[in-house]
Amino acid sequence: MSTIQKLVQMIDQAVKDLEDVCMKDGLTVPDLSESFTLESEAFRENPAAFEATNIAVAAALQLVAHLMPPTTSLAHAACGHYKSACLRICAESNIAEILRESGSQGLHLDSIAKQSGIERNKLSLVLRYLATHNIFREVIPDVFTHTRISSVMDTGKSLKELQASPDTKHDNTLGLAALVEYVVDEVAKSSAYGYETIKDPITGPSREPHHTPLNRAFGTTLPTYDWYELPENAYRLRRFGAAMKGMSALQPSDVILGAYDWSSLEKDALVVDVGGGIGTSTLALYNAFPQFKYIVQDRPPIIAQAIEACKKENPKALESGCVKFQVFLLKLILHDYSDANALKILSALRMAATPSTILLSIDSLMAYACHVPDSHVAVPGATAPEAPAPLLANWGPVADTSYIPDLTMFFAVGGQERTLGHAKSLLEKSGWKLIRVNRGEGNFTPTLVAKPIQDYKL
Ligand SMILES: C[S@@+](CC[C@H](N)C(=O)[O-])C[C@H]1O[C@@H](n2cnc3c(N)ncnc32)[C@H](O)[C@@H]1O
Repeated sequence: MSTIQKLVQMIDQAVKDLEDVCMKDGLTVPDLSESFTLESEAFRENPAAFEATNIAVAAALQLVAHLMPPTTSLAHAACGHYKSACLRICAESNIAEILRESGSQGLHLDSIAKQSGIERNKLSLVLRYLATHNIFREVIPDVFTHTRISSVMDTGKSLKELQASPDTKHDNTLGLAALVEYVVDEVAKSSAYGYETIKDPITGPSREPHHTPLNRAFGTTLPTYDWYELPENAYRLRRFGAAMKGMSALQPSDVILGAYDWSSLEKDALVVDVGGGIGTSTLALYNAFPQFKYIVQDRPPIIAQAIEACKKENPKALESGCVKFQVFLLKLILHDYSDANALKILSALRMAATPSTILLSIDSLMAYACHVPDSHVAVPGATAPEAPAPLLANWGPVADTSYIPDLTMFFAVGGQERTLGHAKSLLEKSGWKLIRVNRGEGNFTPTLVAKPIQDYKL
């Protein structure tokens, strides 16, 4: 059987499997015209539905790679930033909110232009290009509405509210619109300087934090998190906090709860959320385990945001208490740093650790794009499930949610995601022993669980 026939057969079988499981378990796969909500994505939490969907999508994308003219495939890749540019125009002009308020029949370009303040003819080419990629739909000529994909950019707020308080656009939202805006603004601009940064003999190999693509794009020598604190970046800083909340919303709801066997901790355990941002992980943990004590460590302006968010969402969680057993939680932290700086952080935590301290590091874990016969790291959970042939072993673009942060970290902060072997070696060099990897279904940020190496010389 040819590869193309195999892929078609895989799609056919996967769609049948999806229909069967939906029928059996009463699940619904939403139509492309339906608005995105977290609840409407619930079918993916069913493992069989998740697997069937992934196979169908991975095989369809692989089929496209086989059948589309390579020149067209490459043109899609080479012009990928056009989509980012168009998304930015829409996101910053609140097009998602304007279209939601106009209802499912759609809104004429003239009205969208008037409400968004974008010139009609310019807006037409932006919306039409995105509609060509199923992000928005052109219902009749010059009339546009949402698709499920474009509706992810909707903050859920009214246009009036956004216009009255533009700085707080992303406060108390899921953070997904903030995540899109963050990527298409500072990350997209920075990405244009990836080549210059890599080729520069100083910035390429060393990847020092003040020599990132972002430094070049914005003409600053400040490390990224200092740059965010400049007065002119006040909106970006606020948006970044919300975007991190959006990262959590992209994942199954139990990522942080499944990161560790939390119930094995003593009742007065202390969880230190290192670089905990606006406290998204800590609040989720607090809701499930109010008996523990929590510390969210971050930079002062972020902590101010965290307190504000916490007062709104869970005022009781602001209490603290005594220490017995510590957990250091580093969610989306080590990927921000070069190896040298990640080692500094891990070593400082190792110095502060007691013998019973647990370190949890949550980041994407990079899988090779080819089949790997055996994991060379012998701890439970080390081996990632591979896709069946002829799909790419790492699930191809279905796994983009892992590879995108890898590049985002390089462009925006000079960091990177790591393979398991790479991460393990950093842990060992700083006195931590990797004891297991906790992976969840649909979770693209597994948890590395480590404990102090007892005879390690500090
Ligand atoms: C990628 S974000 C991750 C946020 C959070 N852990 C999460 O998963 O949502 C990295 C966080 O590290 C914080 N950070 C950066 N430099 C720091 C420093 N020197 N001390 C404490 N936190 C810092 C940033 O402000 C930011 O909130």
